[in-house]
Amino acid sequence: MERVVIYGGTGGIGLATARALRARGAALHLVGRDSERLERAAAELGETGFTAGDVTDPALFPRVADEVGDRLGGLVYAVGTIQLAPVAKLDPARIEADFRINALGAFLAVQAAVPALKASVAAGAGEGSAGVVLFSTVAAAQGFSHHASVAMAKGAVEGLALSLAAELAPAIRVNVVAPSLTRTPLAESITRNATLASGIASMHALQRLGEPEDVAALAAFLVSPEAGYVTGQVIGVDGGRSSLRTKG
Ligand SMILES: NC(=O)c1ccc[n+]([C@@H]2O[C@H](COP(=O)([O-])OP(=O)(O)OC[C@H]3O[C@@H](n4cnc5c(N)ncnc54)[C@H](OP(=O)(O)O)[C@@H]3O)[C@@H](O)[C@H]2O)c1
Repeated sequence: MERVVIYGGTGGIGLATARALRARGAALHLVGRDSERLERAAAELGETGFTAGDVTDPALFPRVADEVGDRLGGLVYAVGTIQLAPVAKLDPARIEADFRINALGAFLAVQAAVPALKASVAAGAGEGSAGVVLFSTVAAAQGFSHHASVAMAKGAVEGLALSLAAELAPAIRVNVVAPSLTRTPLAESITRNATLASGIASMHALQRLGEPEDVAALAAFLVSPEAGYVTGQVIGVDGGRSSLRTKG
């Protein structure tokens, strides 16, 4: 597989996806704000470059494109927020921040990568199409209280992915992974409370929270040539939370 860029590649799900893609033989390019974490991850993974920067800065995306070069086999955008708040506590600045990080950042990342993704496919890298994976949440398809801002932003990601999947086919496939609560640094404020975590786990048919590797396994598959006939899909990795009720 050709090089894959992973925004948020030092995070819980992003780093697990990086490891899963390295196991499939892909070279990588990671993006995040903290250069020491990027350096550590690149040293662990091997064949991995990185760019330090903030996805709220539009200048980041062309810089990543320059540093990645003119060929790219796939893209994963694993940056996101979980700022839960009742409606009365939300303000435009908070909602805009969620939108910029989750949705606008995903758009700008794909936009900057399209020429290199198309160039790889045109050069006949032997894989038929390039894979893009974006992240939503179980809370976009299910209504959960206090999730208004993140649900708006992730709903936008799902709409974006469908439009991109139509427009960029057949060269580029675009899919969305929608996790339920997963044990990563992002979710730590919720998962570190053992009583709360086990209460939430019990709402899932599979009776546990997600692990980063659960989510990464699907993300790595969707980027890879094995998923060459899968595009325009939103797929839950959610222990059944989006579709199953085991009580009542
Ligand atoms: N964990 C969950 O329960 C859960 C549930 C549903 C959906 N998701 C989604 O899954 C995806 C991955 O989440 P995660 O749980 O793996 O998060 P995480 O562990 O917090 O990792 C986030 C990654 O993004 C980077 N990052 C954060 N803000 C950034 C910014 N402004 N600019 C550039 N990089 C930034 C972080 O590195 P730096 O801090 O060094 O920048 C890190 O590499 C997200 O889209 C999230 O919304 C997660």
